[in-house]
Amino acid sequence: MYQIIPERSEDAVSIETLLGQCFGNERFRKTAYKIRQNVTSIKALNFVGISNDALVASIRYWPLIVGKKTSALLLGPIAVHPDRQGEGIGVALIWDTLKLAKNLGHSLVVLVGDPEYYERFGFVSAFDNGLQMPGPVARHRFLVCELQENALSGVQGMVHGATDTLDEAVKICEFTQGD
Ligand SMILES: CC(C)(COP(=O)(O)OP(=O)(O)OC[C@H]1O[C@@H](n2cnc3c(N)ncnc32)[C@H](O)[C@@H]1OP(=O)(O)O)[C@@H](O)C(=O)NCCC(=O)NCCS
Repeated sequence: MYQIIPERSEDAVSIETLLGQCFGNERFRKTAYKIRQNVTSIKALNFVGISNDALVASIRYWPLIVGKKTSALLLGPIAVHPDRQGEGIGVALIWDTLKLAKNLGHSLVVLVGDPEYYERFGFVSAFDNGLQMPGPVARHRFLVCELQENALSGVQGMVHGATDTLDEAVKICEFTQGD
């Protein structure tokens, strides 16, 4: 059994440990990580999975701008402890938080991940919809989901963290490898 609850301040260290277990240190070089530099995650959408008082899963969201002015969310990282994968925790975390994001009025969610996993939630190719990443990313893994009808209509351009400057986006292009 597990419970999904809002992330608490005391979860921070356990979350970093979990992310290390799931992604290793390579995660810091990915474009999706670089985008989050100098950006504060959205507390209302950060949730954890708890089982027997231990943290077994985490999901976080970050504010983005697409193009010049369209607000969007970056989903990630999401991680489920290797011993607890395949129990439905990941799917539950994503559905719960996407529904919450929609209810809070958010309209678009972007992520980098396996399309085979995320298509069940409504994610489709972001590149094919005119979105771009400010650094290397496997084209088929760059995904976007509409939370409100026609939210992608007329939206295109580079994705960047909501507090990033153009200079920071250029730095990301220069220094990032992988997605
Ligand atoms: C990916 C991850 C979050 C999924 O969470 P989970 O709790 O293990 O997944 P769930 O139990 O909710 O979902 C299981 C379903 O997802 C599928 N699935 C899991 N990982 C998948 C992947 N990478 N690609 C495609 N399908 C995947 C399973 O086959 C299963 O499918 P089914 O429902 O048709 O049987 C988790 O495995 C994880 O933390 N992995 C390591 C870190 C990672 O890769 N994070 C995602 C970055 S994109």
